Amino acid sequence: MTIPASLTARRSPSLSGLVRAPGDKSMSHRALILGAMATGVTEIEGLLEGDDVLATARAVEAFGATVERLGAGRWRVTGRGGFRTPDGVIACGNAGTGVRLLMGAAAGYAITVTFDGDASLRKRPMKRVTGPLADMGARFDWRSVEDRLPVELSGGGLRAIDYQQTVASAQIKSAILLAGLNAEGVTTVTEPEKSRDHSERMLRAFGVEIGVLPTGEGWKVSLKGGQSLTGTAVAVLGDPSSAAFPLAAGLIVPGSGVTVEGVMLNALRTGLFETWREMGADLTITNRRMAGGEEVGDITARHSFLKGVVVPEARAASMIDEYPVLAATAAFAEGATVMQGIGEMRVKESDRIALMAAGLKACGVSVEEEPEGFTVTGGEVRGGAIVTTHGDHRIAMSHLVLGLAADEAVTVDEPGMIATSFPGFVQLMRGLGADIAAGE
Ligand code: S3P
Repeated sequence: MTIPASLTARRSPSLSGLVRAPGDKSMSHRALILGAMATGVTEIEGLLEGDDVLATARAVEAFGATVERLGAGRWRVTGRGGFRTPDGVIACGNAGTGVRLLMGAAAGYAITVTFDGDASLRKRPMKRVTGPLADMGARFDWRSVEDRLPVELSGGGLRAIDYQQTVASAQIKSAILLAGLNAEGVTTVTEPEKSRDHSERMLRAFGVEIGVLPTGEGWKVSLKGGQSLTGTAVAVLGDPSSAAFPLAAGLIVPGSGVTVEGVMLNALRTGLFETWREMGADLTITNRRMAGGEEVGDITARHSFLKGVVVPEARAASMIDEYPVLAATAAFAEGATVMQGIGEMRVKESDRIALMAAGLKACGVSVEEEPEGFTVTGGEVRGGAIVTTHGDHRIAMSHLVLGLAADEAVTVDEPGMIATSFPGFVQLMRGLGADIAAGE
């Protein structure tokens, strides 16, 4: 399929239908990496076949695992119980999670490897992960600029650390824990708020003993080095971060009723749904069940009259990737939606505060930008803009959703990047009745 230079969303009649969210990106990266670190066979179901995850699949293959695609979303990883030095550079594409978790895993082995990424990933800070890994004994040689990819890592001979995180970040926590598996002693990470815990849950499924305790300073996660992983079966559930886009469209397009089935409902990922409910959204969750060690359910969003809210800062970690789509729905709410304590958004695939503020303003929405947050005041949304996404998939999808209920069409550039997390987004949205087409 050829990728168009731009995509345009137009005001659409009511959306309806039942769709399935793509596999969770966080779980998919972890399933491949843990499968490669393990001994034996890991069978994965529901793997997200997005560009970010495919880059991780190629990486673990280069580290010595055997990776086979058995069918749609069905993958088999045969691990060697360790990583070997790969032949070439490990190219992680757009994936911050991929590169940071792989660096953590690789640091534990006596290998030398160079990590690189695309133009966006080359702009993102890496010292937040390489700093603690260096404290454990890994060596890093910046090939171009300090703190930025590409970087050469020499691993092995690690000692455990006790690390206190200043921001709740699952990527940092996971990288340190993966390195800790091959470090001498007990590695501990303490975070101020709990970040997503897929690494902890999945490590247990691979046979690792891991402790999680609340303390005065936050949440303490610890594991003893020298534990080995055994291949297992992993069921990847629907990604709540991706489900958010069709659900958002259901909330803002008049007359709509959209159901996304099989959405993972891990409480550390559902901050957006809680916030939407506080805004008055008609969201219902049915068929709640347990699958793959996680709660999962089907979510229906019906068109709703939303009102602005102040999003509690303590909720940020549970919805950090969802502020762009929240902002798009806030543009249709009555009053101001205040989003604070989210400076981390500036170092995601793009500076998401700046790009959402610019895109929404270009669509006639009132936005106040601050260093660590932004406020969107909703009402009538004019649209009629061409939005620069800087290759950020979530900036693109958020504006396309906005365009479905705006007065005039909204166009986004670099739509090919949507496939990093949500391949099939356009077809899925069209199936619900959304008017999204190539070109301006
Ligand atoms: C992720 C953690 C979050 C999130 C990212 C996925 C993960 O990043 O933004 O999309 O899978 O661990 P931080 O840990 O940097 O907040």
